[in-house]
Amino acid sequence: MTLIDRRALLGGAAALLAAPLIAAPDTRATPSSGSFPKGFFWGAATAGHQVEGNNTASDLWLLEHLTPTVFKEPSGDAVNSFELWSQDLDLVRALGLNSYRFSLEWARIEPEPGQFSLAMLDHYRTMIEGCRQRGLTPLVTFNHFTTPRWFAAQGGWTNPQAPEHFARYCERAARHLASDIGYATTLNEPNLMRILRRMLPPSVWDLGHAMLDAAAHACGTIKFVAANVCNLEDIDAMLPIMIAGHQAGRAAIKSVRPDLPVGISLAMLDDQAVGADSLRDARRAELYGAWLEAARGDDFLGVQNYERARYDAQGRLPPPPGSELNAMGSEIYPPSLGNAVRYAHAATGLPIMITEHGLGTDNDALRAQFIPAALRELQVAIADGVPVRGYMHWSLLDNFEWIFGYGPKYGLCAVDRTTFRRTPKPSAAVLGGIARRNAV
Ligand code: FCB
Repeated sequence: MTLIDRRALLGGAAALLAAPLIAAPDTRATPSSGSFPKGFFWGAATAGHQVEGNNTASDLWLLEHLTPTVFKEPSGDAVNSFELWSQDLDLVRALGLNSYRFSLEWARIEPEPGQFSLAMLDHYRTMIEGCRQRGLTPLVTFNHFTTPRWFAAQGGWTNPQAPEHFARYCERAARHLASDIGYATTLNEPNLMRILRRMLPPSVWDLGHAMLDAAAHACGTIKFVAANVCNLEDIDAMLPIMIAGHQAGRAAIKSVRPDLPVGISLAMLDDQAVGADSLRDARRAELYGAWLEAARGDDFLGVQNYERARYDAQGRLPPPPGSELNAMGSEIYPPSLGNAVRYAHAATGLPIMITEHGLGTDNDALRAQFIPAALRELQVAIADGVPVRGYMHWSLLDNFEWIFGYGPKYGLCAVDRTTFRRTPKPSAAVLGGIARRNAV
């Protein structure tokens, strides 16, 4: 019997004995109780390329090493989770969480078109079993941005054949892995580039263009496109192909295990209207509209929220004067999570899984305050009737943050990048305490 089981039993017995005198603890999700629903999933999230290291058959590995490149530094060994995944799972469990979100690296599983690696499929199966052995529910992302280099060299998600390729991979991976997965997502933030289109400066797009041209040249093709590094003119072309990819991937996974909940994870801001004729609704339509429509046949919607955005009639407003800012220069605004899930559910009618939420900062004290503040608002949204199934904090570990390299720190745990030693930060205990109590 695990410690947690024993505690729950003892707690239950004590409640029974005390019943005539003391009211039973209120475990319903009422705002005053601070409680989350029974069976709520509390977890931390990672993604393969950001933590595993040496993802050499992937599209981004090539881009990271080109001249010119938009990547601040290459991913290299990352935090060596390919080797140290069992330590990571031990950490998740020791923190008091009951779930772990991670991704499969398509480039490892299918390094050449149609050539599937049994050894790599076994690797991920061992991880999934490792979760179950520790009482952790695995939430598995089939594709977290990085694709095999061959896929990107065929035009990535601008290639009309991409959905077919993705479905073939999903079917093969699901046959090996689906039986023990708790929740599956096909694509991670397929709407990210629509958001970045309005955020990144022209210099980054120009540099990215030169880098993608160099990548196509290196591969002897005409077009090289990655899911989170593409050209401005590709963004609209990718939309219907990614939607078809999601649907084909979902069907492939469902063909193997019809009862496995499958969805997508969307990047969702808390979009707020300011004044008359605000552009807020137009922006929502542009950033999420087609995806919210496409998600209708899914079992749940994954929401990934980091910030709010305020829009007046001219566009997005800067953070209010005096706001505390995160590492990306956005305002730290805890209510954004609750607001984002309210909107996501209202727009789709789907149950919500928070697949990412977190804070990029070197100051962990800010994270330790931010987590309970955001979860308080989330708990009120749940008490108001929004069906939220779980909360995955981004991230378990400080990791490779894409073009920003190892600069921004999102981890509940710090990692020494020469010894790979993991050290929980105080915020990890804060989240773990909330998870253990199932209340904020
Ligand atoms: C999200 C990504 C995730 C991580 C966080 C900070 O957009 O899904 O991989 O980089 O942002």
